Amino acid sequence: MKILLTGGAGYIGSHVLNKLGEQEHDIVVLDNLSTGRKESILYGKHVNFSIEESKRLKELFSNENFDVVFHFAGSIVVPESVTNPVMYYSNNTVNSLSIIEMCVEFGVKNLIFSSTAAIYGDSTPGGVCDENSIISPLNPYGHSKYMTELMLESVSQAHDFNYVALRYFNVAGANIDLKIGQSTPNATHLIKMACECATGKRASMQIFGNDYATEDGTCIRDYIHVDDLASAHVLALDYLVNKKDSVSLNCGYGRGFSVFEVIDAVKRVSGVNFETRQVGRRAGDAEKLISKADKIRELLGWQPKHDELDVIVSTALEWEKILASK
Ligand code: UFG
Repeated sequence: MKILLTGGAGYIGSHVLNKLGEQEHDIVVLDNLSTGRKESILYGKHVNFSIEESKRLKELFSNENFDVVFHFAGSIVVPESVTNPVMYYSNNTVNSLSIIEMCVEFGVKNLIFSSTAAIYGDSTPGGVCDENSIISPLNPYGHSKYMTELMLESVSQAHDFNYVALRYFNVAGANIDLKIGQSTPNATHLIKMACECATGKRASMQIFGNDYATEDGTCIRDYIHVDDLASAHVLALDYLVNKKDSVSLNCGYGRGFSVFEVIDAVKRVSGVNFETRQVGRRAGDAEKLISKADKIRELLGWQPKHDELDVIVSTALEWEKILASK
């Protein structure tokens, strides 16, 4: 198949590219390297421009006859979306519309979209969300992604066009073979921050809030290994091409860990007792987000292989050591 991967040099995009590259596909990676790394593009042809460059985008779609688009490009940091919402609506919503518009104009029938658990916010008592849980984002990031899901739904009803929106829970870890990992500069994600402390890149880290209604007072998330998430995308492609049916699916394991539990795991696996500082709540954080994980297993036959916090942490840690040695 002829595939376009936007954001293929980024963290999740590059892991999906790594899996798709093992199959017989003709792949084009569109990435302006604003947060991605050229070295993470292990397969395909790289084109380097921004989705905002509408003339070049149109030329790309007109020259290549894409069968499917994987749309990863976007901004993903919850607190950044609170302080810079315009950037999030622009990079996530407006740019997604441009990609969808190109699909309609050039007859691309399949799109796989990176959505997020952040769309649920605190809507569900207990925090275990299924795909029918109330959508109630607590931050512009979640809104920007949900707006794209709405656009996809409308367009799929009006045109010969189908999509799978994968609602990612907290993606972490690095490729099991350590070929690629999370290299995004200025990390903000919990496991990456903790691994940067463990490897000495960072002297200490903050813990945001200890007064949530959870057992130890810190937020709970469903951490999922990036290679398992990548496998879900490959299965989503098969589903979309064969079933031709649009769907939104949660992508998580169905269990949660608190911030304290994650930090303890990083300290235990690394053997380094780094410093943490307790501070107040971070704006935009949901208390507890855990995936009800049945639908994706039933529909796509997804069987995660790395559902262990220590595996997620140890691959993240090994990757951090590789980055530190460069
Ligand atoms: N946290 C800390 N200290 C840090 C970093 C994070 O205490 O230095 C806490 C946060 O407050 C939160 C938890 O760790 O309670 C997880 O925070 P992350 O920043 O790692 O991740 P988020 O849950 O904010 O968001 C991530 C992705 C989103 C995705 C979401 C789904 O960034 O793209 O998970 O739950 F949508």
